[in-house]
Amino acid sequence: MSKRIDAIDLNVYYGNFLAVEGVNINIEPKTVTAFIGPSGCGKTTFLRTINRMHEVLPGARAEGKLLLDGDDIYGPGVDPVTVRTMVGMVFQRPNPFPTMSIRDNVLAGIKLNGKSMSKSDADDVVERSLKGANLWNEVKDRLDRPGSGLSGGQQQRLCIARTIAVKPDVILMDEPCSALDPISTLAVEDLINELKDEYTVVIVTHNMQQAARVSDKTAFFNIAGTGKPGKLIEYAPTQEIFNNPKEKSTEDYVSGRFG
Ligand SMILES: Nc1ncnc2c1ncn2[C@@H]1O[C@H](COP(=O)(O)OP(=O)(O)O)[C@@H](O)[C@H]1O
Ligand SMILES: [Mg+2]
Repeated sequence: MSKRIDAIDLNVYYGNFLAVEGVNINIEPKTVTAFIGPSGCGKTTFLRTINRMHEVLPGARAEGKLLLDGDDIYGPGVDPVTVRTMVGMVFQRPNPFPTMSIRDNVLAGIKLNGKSMSKSDADDVVERSLKGANLWNEVKDRLDRPGSGLSGGQQQRLCIARTIAVKPDVILMDEPCSALDPISTLAVEDLINELKDEYTVVIVTHNMQQAARVSDKTAFFNIAGTGKPGKLIEYAPTQEIFNNPKEKSTEDYVSGRFG
């Protein structure tokens, strides 16, 4: 439940291209951390190293240490599949399995992990996960209908329910509201606020108000120019990043002067 994340001198490559350089960050359990910064500065790339998704692309690799409660997820003998059950991920576009029922969508991650369970245990998981994703009341009477019949915002909460179902320690979200309308966005933001009671949450967002609303701490990433690596510039309590940043480039970015 809710683990601490420490990156130590993390470099992330696509082949020979160093996309993210020298990240050092300590993320406390039961907090929400926002990653902000201009396009191409490596927010998604770094996020995907936290559950070993980055390396699924040919030639993609990470160097350095990434600790979950002190254990290096890049250590020898660590199974990336196990890491991905501890560190769940929610993507930009809601991606429920379209022909699968709402119920089966929630259970999909567990089934992928090869676990079998009784009908009543499965019912419990479905109810717990949908409640945890603030979706239960909206879908409890249509669990056997396809996930694709839900609105975009409901689909995104269904994806969050699917992530919660496997009982992760960390939830990563890559611009989870960028495809959602404002009402759905608020529903997901409310949910993020509740998720931090149980999980470590990291969210990439382009929306400054969203970062200010949902996060405890904010990490600003930047890039010196095309072809240069992205770097973590400043990481501090969110209020400080927005009201009193230490770095000039952070101030320029949060005040909308570039990016
Ligand atoms: N699959 C890929 N192959 C090669 N380079 C990539 C790939 N994905 C992203 N990059 C590069 O890595 C850098 C960081 O990209 P990304 O992490 O997507 O930034 P952000 O999420 O901050 O917009 C960019 O220069 C981008 O072009
Ligand atoms: Mg991105």
